[in-house]
Amino acid sequence: MKFRSIKGTYDVLPDVSNKWKSIESYIHKNLNRAGYNEIRTPIFENTELFKRSVGLDSDVVSKEMYSWIDQGGTDLTLKPEYTASVVRSYIQNNLGANLPVSKLYYIGDLFRRERPQKGRYRQFRQFGIEAIGSKYPEQDSEVISIAYNLITGLGINDITLKLNSIGSSETRKNYKQALLKFLKPKYDQLSETSRNRFDSNPLRILDTKNKSEIELLKKAPKITEYLSKEDDLHFTEVKTYLNDLSIPFTLDTNLVRGLDYYTRTTFEIASNTLGAQDAICGGGRYDKLVGSLGGKPSPAVGFAAGLERLLLAMGDKNELANKEIKKIYLIGLGDKARSTMMKILNNIRSSGYYVEFDSLRRSLKAQLRESNKLGASITIIIGEQEMEEHCAQIKDLTSGNQESVPFDSIISYIEDLK
Ligand code: HAM
Repeated sequence: MKFRSIKGTYDVLPDVSNKWKSIESYIHKNLNRAGYNEIRTPIFENTELFKRSVGLDSDVVSKEMYSWIDQGGTDLTLKPEYTASVVRSYIQNNLGANLPVSKLYYIGDLFRRERPQKGRYRQFRQFGIEAIGSKYPEQDSEVISIAYNLITGLGINDITLKLNSIGSSETRKNYKQALLKFLKPKYDQLSETSRNRFDSNPLRILDTKNKSEIELLKKAPKITEYLSKEDDLHFTEVKTYLNDLSIPFTLDTNLVRGLDYYTRTTFEIASNTLGAQDAICGGGRYDKLVGSLGGKPSPAVGFAAGLERLLLAMGDKNELANKEIKKIYLIGLGDKARSTMMKILNNIRSSGYYVEFDSLRRSLKAQLRESNKLGASITIIIGEQEMEEHCAQIKDLTSGNQESVPFDSIISYIEDLK
């Protein structure tokens, strides 16, 4: 039998693993600078946690979870999302005790048994943030601006930030009735998926991708018409802050999100180039979740973004690799140069640079070809003449300049090329 990876999973092969590492270090660096600290939670949790938070009628819980009963009879689930798990940990570890607002972030693997396609996998990776403790609209706007800035900072600019407010549970109860009233006479025109949602979770009908349904829904009542005065004021302030921050957004009253815990603000950032699975990031406010999972009621807001989709949207741009990693290729020619080359290789490496060398003793031409293939931006050549002069030839492949540099000044010379 030939073994293959499980449907919907993939291997990160060496040619792309560096891209993953650089995007993850970019996330760690920027979120730390924004005052968010990393939290890591176990890869599996009690199934009940997700049922209670994400909701029984959500697609995630009703169709997509990898759950099993272990040998001790406990019902367990591979995490399909982070928010519930982070909130569980926040409550269990009493994280709110010392800090009025807990600002947490995560990067890790999640599991959903969805139909695999480009940008949609059964094991995928998310990064996200959760700010637990503030009810004020500036917290919503900070979270949204962090998502927006991190994504555009990767060179992904062809995006749409969709924004909505779904108010309180009271708002949604009233709105649900109005929506059902509007849809009832049109029931026969609905797709099978929407008919199923009609009974279980009618707000999710607004999520349809079916063109005739989208047309039909244009005349439907809007959830924002059902917001209370306080919800409306909160939403207005979120929008004002975003305008102040020059973050462009599009109001989308159909953006209800597929997870049950949201209250008030919801948002998504979609790529205009990705096709069907275009949502790069989704999030919103969830003021009731901490209380409903047994913690001291605490308002909260957060988002998560799919790393595979970020990488897809970045395409070949790989701005980070260019920005962060200067690749150096070290060429040593002839027996005499070899031990000096090894010393220089070690020194450059210890100074934190990416450097490779040829261990096949190939010709200058072959090594230059290799350096080109690796996408090196600097080549350092040490041959017989260089050994006599105690200098290396350093070529900056970006500018085309080449200079003779004394061995003991190589590191500072490279530093200046940055
Ligand atoms: P979500 O919208 O379910 O939200 O997922 C967030 C992002 O994860 C999506 O926009 C997408 O980029 C990525 N994603 C989801 N499913 C898949 C998949 N099967 N394959 C690849 N990427 C996927 C949440 O998970 C919420 N916990 C977000 C949140 C945090 N809300 C408040 N705080």
